[in-house]
Amino acid sequence: MTVDDAGARALPPVPPPPPPRAAPGSGGPGRARQDAVYRAGALGRRPRVPTDPAGLERAARRRMSRDAWAYVAGGAGSGATMRANRAALDAWAIVPRVLRDVTARDLSVELFGHRYPAPVLVGPVGAAALVAPDADLAIARAAASVGLPYVFSNQGCAPMEQTAAAMGDGPRWFQLYWSKDEELVDSFLGRAERAGAQAVVVTLDTTLLGWRPMDLDRGLLPFVRGLGLAQYTSDPRFRELVRERLARSEQPGRPLRVTPGAVRTLLAMSRAYPGSTWANLRSREPRAAVETFLDAYSNPALSWDHVATLRERTRLPVVLKGVLHPDDARRAFDLGVDGVVVSNHGGRQVDGAVAAAEALPRVREAVGADRTVLLDSGIRSGADVVKALALGADAVLLGRPSVYGLAVAGEDGVREVLENVVAELDLTAGLAGVTNWDDGAELLLHACFSPGRRVNVAYRPVSNQ
Ligand code: GLV
Repeated sequence: MTVDDAGARALPPVPPPPPPRAAPGSGGPGRARQDAVYRAGALGRRPRVPTDPAGLERAARRRMSRDAWAYVAGGAGSGATMRANRAALDAWAIVPRVLRDVTARDLSVELFGHRYPAPVLVGPVGAAALVAPDADLAIARAAASVGLPYVFSNQGCAPMEQTAAAMGDGPRWFQLYWSKDEELVDSFLGRAERAGAQAVVVTLDTTLLGWRPMDLDRGLLPFVRGLGLAQYTSDPRFRELVRERLARSEQPGRPLRVTPGAVRTLLAMSRAYPGSTWANLRSREPRAAVETFLDAYSNPALSWDHVATLRERTRLPVVLKGVLHPDDARRAFDLGVDGVVVSNHGGRQVDGAVAAAEALPRVREAVGADRTVLLDSGIRSGADVVKALALGADAVLLGRPSVYGLAVAGEDGVREVLENVVAELDLTAGLAGVTNWDDGAELLLHACFSPGRRVNVAYRPVSNQ
């Protein structure tokens, strides 16, 4: 035996490394939200906004007018597409991975050179003033307070400049409906750039309005009542079109029969139109604006040729929304667009359309890992966001839930909904063993049975690598 051997034998056994300690302050948005809710609960206060999506929807319905509910919650035809959107997400199960040290979680994503705190955008919702006055401003402020990008609706109820001013530095995108008037398209694009939009989302699936029984049965199209036209009535080119229309004819449209409904509509139009309601009631302009809008919205002739002109017309990244077929997605990127949103417009356009979450993996496969692909339609919770990312999305758009939050508790309600979704996303990702979206973290989904069908893809890595 050598001295060295003897010395080595004398050494105490090496202790196992101490378990890694949680970094201070690393609770993340999930823990922070739980803390806030449970501490308030200990003092006897419950959240105003239900934290589960079904409860949120019920609470919102109780507070919304029948018109508002029909417009927001309604979908195309029998509602099959809305149901399919949910079923396609429910058909997947997350397979959590364990023992991966998820103390520090980074939910942030980068889209078009901008980093956002979570892969969630607040989607555009038209005519939200049906739900609450100053709806767009409330949603914008709430989104800004959580740092999530808000996509200004082309059918919004406040001019984009006013909405932008309300949200300070909060990130914003702009949704464009391609009007029949090309100068109006340019005017919208220019205004969006000046209002600080970080991308333009061109909605492709509404070249005609879908067949929506809940609205039809109430004879309700908000735009006909002058609601959701604020981007138009604040636009110099649109105002020019209105003036031209008035100059062409003494009568802006068919004469109105004076009925209680007609008076209500006239009042709504006059309130929604810029300027004093009293002056508007005596002016022909508000009604001419509605008629001008109905002529210009939207553009059934829209084609790939139109989209091809966009590169020359804006410096903003261009994102096409409403893409469901892999060939359309491929063609979009071949044309030089910057991203696509896989969406069926929340099931509002085509009854029996393919579910967005079902189309997503095929689109991702067709365009490859490096393209920006977002998902919209059917997302209700943080767990849904996790599934969407696992199915190939870079981020999602949240539509109806933020409007439901607005109905329940105004701006605070929207903020709570957004915080809840991000909190659940954070906790679900962590519990699934995921600490960020790129770093080779594998998020596994297991296809499970849904009534009548089976989704065939078994496992997909979230990193798309
Ligand atoms: C318009 O975008 C609508 O879905 O009503």
